[in-house]
Amino acid sequence: MRKSILDLSIMKSKGEKIVALTSYDFQTASILDEFCDFILVGDSLGNVFQGQDTTLPVTLEEIIYHAKIVDRAISNAHFCVDMPFMSYQSSDHVALENIGRVIKETNAQSIKIEMNPSLLNLIGKINMIGIPVVAHVGLCPQSYNIYGGYKKQGKNKSDRDYIYELAVQSYQNGASIIVIEGVPENLARQITKDITIPTIGIGAGGDTDGQILVAEDMLGITPLPRPSFVKSYSNLRDNIKKSASEYRKDVKKKKFP
Ligand code: KIV
Repeated sequence: MRKSILDLSIMKSKGEKIVALTSYDFQTASILDEFCDFILVGDSLGNVFQGQDTTLPVTLEEIIYHAKIVDRAISNAHFCVDMPFMSYQSSDHVALENIGRVIKETNAQSIKIEMNPSLLNLIGKINMIGIPVVAHVGLCPQSYNIYGGYKKQGKNKSDRDYIYELAVQSYQNGASIIVIEGVPENLARQITKDITIPTIGIGAGGDTDGQILVAEDMLGITPLPRPSFVKSYSNLRDNIKKSASEYRKDVKKKKFP
């Protein structure tokens, strides 16, 4: 049975780390599911799956397409879907319609939004229709053009205070999980200590309640540079290259079929 938000919360209270990965396709999700407590169809599919420079062009239709596919592979992990850029920011009405569509069409158990103070009230409205919210703070990739690139956040005190307040207020407004990306370790630690819901970190040190990585980064299949905080667990790109090269040789030399 898939893990619920409550199961993840119990893991925090027991001090058991939450293992989270992204997935965009059936094959990968069907392998990762048994090893994960949480699987996210992230809008990072824009960079990783589609080869775009940012996540900004990802559409709601594309997220729903990938999420429907991943849904078929998940029976153990909690299943969360990312809301793409401009699917929730323009008005509460638009957000609720689009979030409702994601839940109805993909079978997701929760949705993730990238937070800013103007979205705090929205969390309660999403909860009111029965949907748990994962609130993403720190480095929010949909703000790429404000940062001028994917840059670590929380470099000065006012930035750190902003991120801390946003995380705590997201929790107070009803968020079920906080994803903390690209901030100093001590800030992520403080947020994790001061709230009772789980935190899941990426590039935010080891003291969050769980860790999430983009699966393709840790599997070594993407041509994109690997972020410095990612540990490499395999080099699938080289394995695939080797297989393709052997297949090519066999066909050219008439050894296959
Ligand atoms: O889009 C994504 O994959 C994410 C995770 C890296 C947290 O937001």
